[in-house]
Amino acid sequence: MSIALPGRHRRLIYLAFAFLVLSGLVWLGGRYGLRSDPELPHPLEAWALKLHGAAAMLGLLALGSVLPQHVRFAWRARRNRTSGATMLSLAGILILTGYGLYYAADENLRPWISLAHWASGLVLPAGLIWHVAAGRRRKKPGS
Ligand code: HEM
Ligand code: HEM
Repeated sequence: MSIALPGRHRRLIYLAFAFLVLSGLVWLGGRYGLRSDPELPHPLEAWALKLHGAAAMLGLLALGSVLPQHVRFAWRARRNRTSGATMLSLAGILILTGYGLYYAADENLRPWISLAHWASGLVLPAGLIWHVAAGRRRKKPGS
């Protein structure tokens, strides 16, 4: 029964999250920084979204991969629940709002879904750093 994530698995999670955040940041840079005409998308935005779509697929795979062992066993053992639950909540918000960005038809709602999505996305790295640090701190010898 292993809660700790072996090197390759852990690296998959870091890679997927870094890819998600970086592609999101590039889109934000294009949308809010580089547009010369506020009505016209900067070419980087479309590229960033294509990369972000790929990152989202990898990210969902990475999230799914921690559920059956890591999350289930740690939850039962009551280890690192607060930061773990925060990670799961952030992931849930990102998935729901990501779905909303694809399919919400209401144009008045879209900017709010977008804001909720990328604001939670920007919090994700801090959440992960907190989660990993708390997990290491509380690690029992030999577990
Ligand atoms: C989105 C969901 C989650 C992700 C992506 C995630 C990811 C990670 C990562 C990358 C580590 C560092 C592993 C290492 O340094 O070896 C870690 C550690 C840890 N996580 Fe999670 N986690 C998630 C949810 C949870 C939940 C819900 C719990 C508890 C109920 C939890 C409990 C722990 C514990 C106890 C550790 C320390 C493991 C050890 O080294 O012994 N995690 N997590
Ligand atoms: C599990 C995690 C995530 C999933 C499933 C996800 C999914 C999505 C989806 C489906 C879209 C819409 C793409 C399109 O319209 O073509 C999107 C857009 C976006 N995502 Fe994510 N994302 C995740 C994490 C993140 C993170 C960590 C960031 C960090 C900043 C982020 C920032 C953005 C931005 C800035 C957009 C563009 C918003 C807009 O079009 O108004 N996402 N994401």
